[in-house]
Amino acid sequence: MKLHVITLGCQMSAADGTETAAALCRRGWQATAELEQADAILLTTCSVRRHAEQRALSLIGRLREWKAQDPSRFLAVAGCVAERLGERLTRRFPHVDLVVGSKKAASYADIVSEAMGNRLESLRAAQEKDAVARPQPEPVPADAAAAPSVGNPVQTLTIMRGCSCSCTYCIVPSVRGRESCRPADEIIHEARTRFQDGARELILLGQRVNAYRSADGMDFPDLLRALDALPGLRRLRFMSPHPALCDDRLAAAVRECRTACEWIHLPVQSGCDRILGMMRRGYTREQFLATAARLRATIPGVVISTDIIVGFPSETEADFAQTLTLLDELRPATVFCFKFSAREGTPAAMLTDDAPPSLKEQRLAAANAVVERLTRQALDSQVGSIVEVLAETPTFGRTRTGFKARWKSPVAAGDLVSMHVDAATRRTLLGDIDEPHNP
Ligand code: SAH
Ligand code: SF4
Ligand code: F3S
Repeated sequence: MKLHVITLGCQMSAADGTETAAALCRRGWQATAELEQADAILLTTCSVRRHAEQRALSLIGRLREWKAQDPSRFLAVAGCVAERLGERLTRRFPHVDLVVGSKKAASYADIVSEAMGNRLESLRAAQEKDAVARPQPEPVPADAAAAPSVGNPVQTLTIMRGCSCSCTYCIVPSVRGRESCRPADEIIHEARTRFQDGARELILLGQRVNAYRSADGMDFPDLLRALDALPGLRRLRFMSPHPALCDDRLAAAVRECRTACEWIHLPVQSGCDRILGMMRRGYTREQFLATAARLRATIPGVVISTDIIVGFPSETEADFAQTLTLLDELRPATVFCFKFSAREGTPAAMLTDDAPPSLKEQRLAAANAVVERLTRQALDSQVGSIVEVLAETPTFGRTRTGFKARWKSPVAAGDLVSMHVDAATRRTLLGDIDEPHNP
């Protein structure tokens, strides 16, 4: 069976797709990057904003043709849209064979293979019959690109699922359920497996990754230290930590762990206390900035990135201006800016969505202009320095601080190299390799 995985949405959704593909490949499936060659498609979907959900629905609609070409093909729709809409999806799209929501993400592989079980068996039987009559075709190699998690030097690792926060705008708690943490020994075992598989950098994933706590009392800083001690690991990142849970122990662990990178994605959402309160984020502007300052004081050279939402219900021009001034104080290297999108069933969807689309668009553009300038300054500040880069391809990688980097002389993917930064484009540092770093 050849599986094609399509992932939409956040890194957790992507990880659900690639981890399921890897699990199915261990059971004898093959991954393919070609839609046309696929016997089955696994689509993981995102519902965080209306636009994300619409993207998923239109893609499902377009896959009708793929399915019609060969009705024995199997289309599984998973993820947060599947969780939110459930059977409404199959009613609207009868060509979908399986709808399985995010709350079952940990068992996608079992559910997909079980649903395919009978069909697989009958297909195999048919193929065997066929093989007697026809010469065997050349085996098609499994396509590594189709299962990006496998063999890549940078791999994500889900350490917890769900979210127990109650940010008023957010659909995630309702589609993903309450937080549940994987056992620490399971995570450590999986990390080891990943190194054997070629991973050099791990990105630990969770909606509130620093709320991690294993049944036997291991918390997030403990987990960082345990992973840091594993031979084979070169770099450790995590996303996203919640600003209200960034304490001194976390900062100290990042500083002291050899592999923990000097990059922290710390979503702020707004710079206005009234809006932060309405969002129920659990911190004020001042507390957030103090947290960022503490991280900077503890972790030398740390680079921060963030998320903001513009046009939250009742946000005034003055409230929005506070978000812009917060960005200037925080000086993040990158910011993901989103227009507020009312999500059915969330508390914020009960409020009047009073910012018209044109105003949201205008605030988004204003925010992006600030971000453009901050990114420019952050990149420019690197020019002339020597940075450690982990090669993801022969000529592309990332610095410990999260900047994209390109260089001229090719190296092996997975190598750690020193790059002299000569220039910066809008998003990427350019330079050449000074020396390989590998022991
Ligand atoms: N767990 C992460 C965020 C996950 S969602 C955290 O709390 O940091 C990723 C981002 O999408 C959020 O940081 C927020 O900026 C944005 N987002 C979530 N819900 C949204 C909504 N209803 N409208 C617009 N943006 C939203
Ligand atoms: Fe959503 Fe808030 Fe949970 Fe992040 S912490 S996933 S924004 S509810
Ligand atoms: Fe989207 Fe679900 Fe992730 S709603 S942001 S795919 S947790």
